[in-house]
Amino acid sequence: MSERPLLLFGGSFDPVHGGHLRMASYFSRRMGYDVLLLPAGSPRWKKTEAEGRMRLLLLELALSSLGEEGIQIDSRELLRPGESRTIDTVLSIQKDYPGRPLALLLGADQALRFPEWREAERLSRLTKILYVPREGVEVGEETKERFHMEEVPYKGAGMTSSTLVREIGTLDLPEPELVAIEGHRLYRWGEVAGMMGERRYEHSLSVAHLSRQIASYNRLGERMELLAYRAGLFHDLGKDLGEEEERALLLGENIPAGMPHYALHQWTGARLARERFGEEEEEVLDAIRVHCTGDPGMSPLAKILYAADKIDPGRGWDSHAYVRAMMKDYERGFLEVLRANREYLEGHGGERNPMSESAFRAYLGKEGE
Ligand SMILES: [Fe+2]
Ligand SMILES: [Fe+2]
Repeated sequence: MSERPLLLFGGSFDPVHGGHLRMASYFSRRMGYDVLLLPAGSPRWKKTEAEGRMRLLLLELALSSLGEEGIQIDSRELLRPGESRTIDTVLSIQKDYPGRPLALLLGADQALRFPEWREAERLSRLTKILYVPREGVEVGEETKERFHMEEVPYKGAGMTSSTLVREIGTLDLPEPELVAIEGHRLYRWGEVAGMMGERRYEHSLSVAHLSRQIASYNRLGERMELLAYRAGLFHDLGKDLGEEEERALLLGENIPAGMPHYALHQWTGARLARERFGEEEEEVLDAIRVHCTGDPGMSPLAKILYAADKIDPGRGWDSHAYVRAMMKDYERGFLEVLRANREYLEGHGGERNPMSESAFRAYLGKEGE
């Protein structure tokens, strides 16, 4: 590292997300600091969801995908047993980097309560206290003066939070980190994995990524990318249920007569997405409800999910032409997938179902009759 001043950027990082990374990058590039990301230990009073080692791994993955030399991870708080006092951390860093000016980064809430911190005066003599403002949080002039606090003119924090990441409410995190969260079955992903076998979990992840990518290539916007990912991840939640649970979940659902058993999981899946995972977006629920059979009135998301499910490269047939068609223009790609599916069902004497039949008629016209 250079001789630039050091910025101590602590947090739970449970997990680290795009908002953290953009802020660290701002301090490194624009403010001239070398940034030390200091993941906190797991004190008993503030339980983190992921273990320390896992949070560290996610940080390392996120950071290496960022490729910024001015940002490093410092794991001393994480590895120290018990609760870490900021003053101890500062003293120990001072020892490791003799002569380097130090700054301590606080959130607005922390700045507000800073006078109550242990050895606050001493901390403010050893480091320059910086804080990021937040709307609705007013740090008093007296506090600012007393501790020589400086407000940082940073506006790029955005809406991302670790809670949102854990709840699959945002995908604002580097891809390698997301893949690690999925693979290690952390946060909500652990619950999804717990409801199905290994292969189905792999399939769900694959459909989630493929759906998101289709939304992205078709420029449907960030919100649609997130909804497409969730629809893919949740779509087969209802597939491994016992008979009784299935029957209970189907109560009150409006299922057309003559539906074969294999199609029922589209209704149970939607129910489970809402009840277990708090999925409130009707677009996602509707898409899951027709992902297996299709339907005459499908939304863009429903078309994407229907196709992604059928052409998942993990299914073991050569679907790449369809994948390419979906990426180029999902409306046309969907028609190709639908046509192929009809041919497949006819060729294999597959069990007919009224919803697929009416979808074929609606989208493929006469040839569907
Ligand atoms: Fe399915
Ligand atoms: Fe599926």
